[in-house]
Amino acid sequence: MTVVYLNGSFVPYEKAMVPVEDRGFLFADGIYEVIRVYGGKPFALQDHMLRLARSAELMELPFATSPAHLKEKALEALEQSGLKEATIYIQVTRGFAGPRVHDWPKDPQPTELILVRAYESAPKESITLASVPDQRWELCHIKSIGLYLNTRARMEARRRGKDDGLFVRDGIVTEASSSNFFAVHRGTLYTHPEDHRILPGITRRYVIRLAQDLGIPVKEEPFTYEWVLNADEAFITGTTSEVTPAVGLDHQPIGGGQPGPITLRLKEAYRELVRG
Ligand code: PDD
Repeated sequence: MTVVYLNGSFVPYEKAMVPVEDRGFLFADGIYEVIRVYGGKPFALQDHMLRLARSAELMELPFATSPAHLKEKALEALEQSGLKEATIYIQVTRGFAGPRVHDWPKDPQPTELILVRAYESAPKESITLASVPDQRWELCHIKSIGLYLNTRARMEARRRGKDDGLFVRDGIVTEASSSNFFAVHRGTLYTHPEDHRILPGITRRYVIRLAQDLGIPVKEEPFTYEWVLNADEAFITGTTSEVTPAVGLDHQPIGGGQPGPITLRLKEAYRELVRG
């Protein structure tokens, strides 16, 4: 059963409403997190709450309650749902404060939403990518609900017969539309460094640790689009995509069009970790 918690109470899905002038709706002035639940247990919930708090800080966005309170309510919502395989979606916006003006309200009433719903699907065995210019804002490290260009990247990829868009900014590959990106070259794992051009993915961090545990060298440094075309392997990481092999980019196969051995080892290790 889908469970909704909105501004202090659990409400039936159909009755969960926010005012038309909520600043999330008008200005995309809000932040969010997606957490995956495996076998009834949320994976890395605390990491997600810390990132939510960090996003709020970076956007000077107040909470009506607190990340700790929302964490408690998320667990309560999950319990109420009775779901074993699920996602928990948490969103906080600057809320409703009267007629639309750019000034942030002096007395904000943030909107806090938690949505728990069933998630039965598994990530695809492998995907293909289409490069898209990264025209997003310069604060990609904030998990903002302003995702128009992320959704556009996905649709552009679909139009070109690929599964997902891979962002390229000034010749440098940053990340995919809703996942981080890794490539393997001569046994070393590469991914874009954590800065304002990518989301500091939680899956990304866990995968880096797994690679280090497996003795796979990891380099967090920028690399170009052309470099990726010559990579031995590639994959994306994310809460719902987990570790998904990327076997093609634009018109070219990556790693002969097959998932590579390092990718598959990390995919397996990540599965074991989350199912723990
Ligand atoms: N997306 N990069 C972007 C742009 C993302 O939107 C996401 C997550 C990631 C991966 O982060 P993490 O490993 O913490 O999930 C990277 C979520 C799942 C979404 O928007 O649905």
